[in-house]
Amino acid sequence: MLKVKGIHTFYGLSHILFDVSLEVSRGEIACLLGRNGAGKSTTIKSIMGLTPPRQGTIEFKGETITGKQPYQLVRLGIGYVPDDRRVFADLTVGENLEISERSSGALLMWDRESVYDFFPALRHIDSRKGGVLSGGEQQMLTIARALVTNPEFLLLDEPTEGLAPMVVKVLEEQIRRLRDKGLTVLLAEQNQKAALRLSDRGYIIDNGVIRYHGNIEDLRDNEEIRKKYLLV
Ligand SMILES: Nc1ncnc2c1ncn2[C@@H]1O[C@H](COP(=O)(O)OP(=O)(O)O)[C@@H](O)[C@H]1O
Ligand SMILES: [Mg+2]
Repeated sequence: MLKVKGIHTFYGLSHILFDVSLEVSRGEIACLLGRNGAGKSTTIKSIMGLTPPRQGTIEFKGETITGKQPYQLVRLGIGYVPDDRRVFADLTVGENLEISERSSGALLMWDRESVYDFFPALRHIDSRKGGVLSGGEQQMLTIARALVTNPEFLLLDEPTEGLAPMVVKVLEEQIRRLRDKGLTVLLAEQNQKAALRLSDRGYIIDNGVIRYHGNIEDLRDNEEIRKKYLLV
């Protein structure tokens, strides 16, 4: 569904991603694991058109999307959950969702109501301002906001960061349910535990280079490679 082919991404003169290639098939969760600063967010942002690669191509459903604007990618069915959970602090939970709602011809139709069925905790805080939410609530809202754009493909940048283990478990279960409903996911994570449990396939990035890719069982078994690139 998504094919990233040999991209090089820069911030100004800093060369960050080196020949990064990865693929995500329809209906799977693929994870991109790596330490802090490895290039996970830059890869996600490159796909989302926020830091367009200087070299290489990105295809989504067979169409080249390199150089397209983020809003165009949302229309094509890509949802994005940024690492910094930029919820609108002065808007209520309900208003945060309302401004993102977008219908599509997709089989899966998300609106405020169905998102509340999916994240019951959000329904209870519908009228609460974004600025006073807990970390877990903000993360749920950020994911819910991506869902109401009705994506077929979801980019999740470190959704479990800073969350209590109990909250991570809940979130993990929700992400799994989304996959079971037909959503395809690329998950960037530093937290390998959650990602190894959730994913079907994994990539490891280090210093802007993909060092490993394989199915998740192989990665679970390959302690050596995880030690080398993932443990701090
Ligand atoms: N806006 C930016 N300007 C310059 N360098 C950046 C910027 N954002 C990230 N970097 C650098 O790019 C590298 C990769 O960062 P990032 O993709 O955020 O890593 P990760 O998400 O894996 O923690 C790091 O060395 C980081 O310092
Ligand atoms: Mg990051």
